[in-house]
Amino acid sequence: MKKLVILTGAGISAESGISTFRDTGGLWEQYAIEDVATLNAWIKDKALVTDFYNQRRKQLLQVEPNYGHRGLVELEKQFQVSIITQNVDNLHERAGSSSILHLHGELTKVRSEKYENLVYELTPDKYEVKIGDLCEKGYQLRPHIVWFGEAVPMMEQAIQITEQADILVIIGTSLNVYPAAGLLYYIRTEAPVYLIDPNDVSVSRGNVHLIKKGASEGVKELIKLLQIQS
Ligand code: APR
Repeated sequence: MKKLVILTGAGISAESGISTFRDTGGLWEQYAIEDVATLNAWIKDKALVTDFYNQRRKQLLQVEPNYGHRGLVELEKQFQVSIITQNVDNLHERAGSSSILHLHGELTKVRSEKYENLVYELTPDKYEVKIGDLCEKGYQLRPHIVWFGEAVPMMEQAIQITEQADILVIIGTSLNVYPAAGLLYYIRTEAPVYLIDPNDVSVSRGNVHLIKKGASEGVKELIKLLQIQS
């Protein structure tokens, strides 16, 4: 089976009702990154940061995967599919994809602010974290999120997966954030690249097949194109 690697960003979850970051009305228009998504923000105001992520978790409980997510599961019949996502939601998991790497962490997990290996899964009935919720060694629980300025622990693994891709698909990311956007440098030159996005995205690579559509329609078209080719 050919290896199909799919890099996803906020745009794949937009049709589920989760706003993207950098589009008009996006999350970074409503909040300042330095107030809620950096280690400094956490040190300055843990309650504010905790509340921001509790709100994201609450929203996640109210939304469902869309065909963008579900169509990628169908592709598993034909390809060995690996998803590398920048998203912190769990919509790929809920759609049923079997191989998902979260580059920027997961909303449904928290970890000790001191011991990074002490990671805990939140459940839908207890998704809210409070100041005073502690790890087993007595330290505050923080979001299991890669904030701006923090290292991206999954990057090495993402590079290895990308290097082995026979085909790469990019869906719903502005490719503004590094190191994630740098994954494009690791694709073999002969591997075709498909990019699904309703807006223009600048890609640092030639020979990219653009599918200028939203995720649901775009994934439908991708499935047709890949069936024709195989
Ligand atoms: N279908 C597909 N793509 C869409 C849709 C849609 N319905 N609607 C918008 N998009 C596209 C936008 O055109 C844009 O290119 O999704 C992309 C969203 O870009 P960003 O908001 O920058 O999100 P993303 O690239 O995932 O951000 C990367 O930045 O803030 C951090 O950690 C956060 O993981 C995030 C990272």
